[in-house]
Amino acid sequence: MQKLEHEALVAKLKDPMELAAYARECDDYRPGLLARILGALLVGAGNLVYGKKPSYEKFKAVEVIARIPYQSWEAVAYTYLTAFYGDEGRAIRLSRLLPFARHAQDNETMHVVVITHLVKHYHRNSFFRHTLVPLVFSFFYYWAIWLLSLIDRRVAFELNYIFESHAFHQYTEFLEREGERMKSAPISSPFLTFYGREADNEYDLFQSIRLDEIIHRNGSVEMIKELDHGRLS
Ligand SMILES: [Fe+2]
Ligand SMILES: [Fe+2]
Repeated sequence: MQKLEHEALVAKLKDPMELAAYARECDDYRPGLLARILGALLVGAGNLVYGKKPSYEKFKAVEVIARIPYQSWEAVAYTYLTAFYGDEGRAIRLSRLLPFARHAQDNETMHVVVITHLVKHYHRNSFFRHTLVPLVFSFFYYWAIWLLSLIDRRVAFELNYIFESHAFHQYTEFLEREGERMKSAPISSPFLTFYGREADNEYDLFQSIRLDEIIHRNGSVEMIKELDHGRLS
């Protein structure tokens, strides 16, 4: 999905009926056992280090990590393309993943940059927990997803489905708890403007980020369907 298409979908999903219908498309997807175990470890580790309750600083750490699978998938696809560029069919199958991976990386980068701006604004940052730990974790996570994508790409997509689903629910909980206050908290971020997303206040911003996450969740299922139809390799 390209950026303009993604932004149009975010605007459409602001309607609760549209969001409910869109969420239903993939709500019942059931990841396999390995993805569920890895997902429980990932979400459990996040809850252990940052607490179960969503917060600005937890989102900052989570968003650093959220970009990683898309980077790994892109790197794996290009690594294969270095070896198999002579096979046009395979080159097409490898390239089908790239628009989703590239755009999701840009989108998650916007999340982490803008939320970090808010974490600084509220003086919530702890260098060790919110900067160093996600950075070190991301290094290992990148290579773990890289390897997993070589061995079994379906598990990598399913793990992302679990992670994005968790992110969507965390943002939902945050908006329910803090939404009224956030409606009168203005947001001014040069990166948000550079990215091309408009938000009058924190509520608008977090509402749109929450919608990004469900688009990533459903996008992961789309990739699994492509895999099942032999359209990815
Ligand atoms: Fe995100
Ligand atoms: Fe996401």
